[in-house]
Amino acid sequence: MVAPSILSADFCRMGEECRHAIEAGADALHLDVMDGHFVPNLTMGPDMCRWIRRELPDALLDVHLMVSYPEQYFQPFCDAGADHISFHIEAMARDPGGGDEVGRAIEFIADIRELGMTAGIAINPPTPLQRVLPVVEHADMALVMSVNPGFSGQSFIPESLAKTETIASMLRPDQRLEMDGGVTPANAPLIRRAGCDLLVAASAVFGKPRDQRAGVIAELRGG
Ligand code: DX5
Ligand code: ZN
Repeated sequence: MVAPSILSADFCRMGEECRHAIEAGADALHLDVMDGHFVPNLTMGPDMCRWIRRELPDALLDVHLMVSYPEQYFQPFCDAGADHISFHIEAMARDPGGGDEVGRAIEFIADIRELGMTAGIAINPPTPLQRVLPVVEHADMALVMSVNPGFSGQSFIPESLAKTETIASMLRPDQRLEMDGGVTPANAPLIRRAGCDLLVAASAVFGKPRDQRAGVIAELRGG
């Protein structure tokens, strides 16, 4: 599956941009939510999700929460029409030692599912894989970041592929593996071979003129 991230879309024409991406073959739309605290950027909140849902009642909306307190936002995003919520294992560490971040993450996944959405656990490039592994079996999806989150248009970090290979070997057929950051038609074959079945791309899709986007989405998806 391919999920263009609307972070690189034209925010003045968001409805049109999203509709066009779906018509160009996107399987889902990826909403990058940043709070200026967990990452050094501010992007969008539940209202953006609500307007996209009104414009596209059937689109799969994949919300990626890069926020320090995701528990404050999953209900508003659900009310705004989100289908899926991913949150970061790093955001579950409420003290420097991490505390019971695994327990907290597993409980939060249950809370997200209780509202009828699917739940994903995300991990940043510098974070050791071991921190997320005990959570993966409880989630519908694992999201491996292949850039340090905050901005679109950064270069893919190749070491991320080892993480997806390990996670892929643990997944059940009903679980998905998403890669996010620096994904392009050039590196997509490697990413798919490393076990990912959901590729996110912001600049590679929305950075291109509209008439090229269907081609890019098809290349990301592969044969
Ligand atoms: C990280 C976000 C990504 C990112 C992707 O900051 O979670 O979704 O914007 O942007 P590209 O595809 O341009 O690297
Ligand atoms: Zn993202």
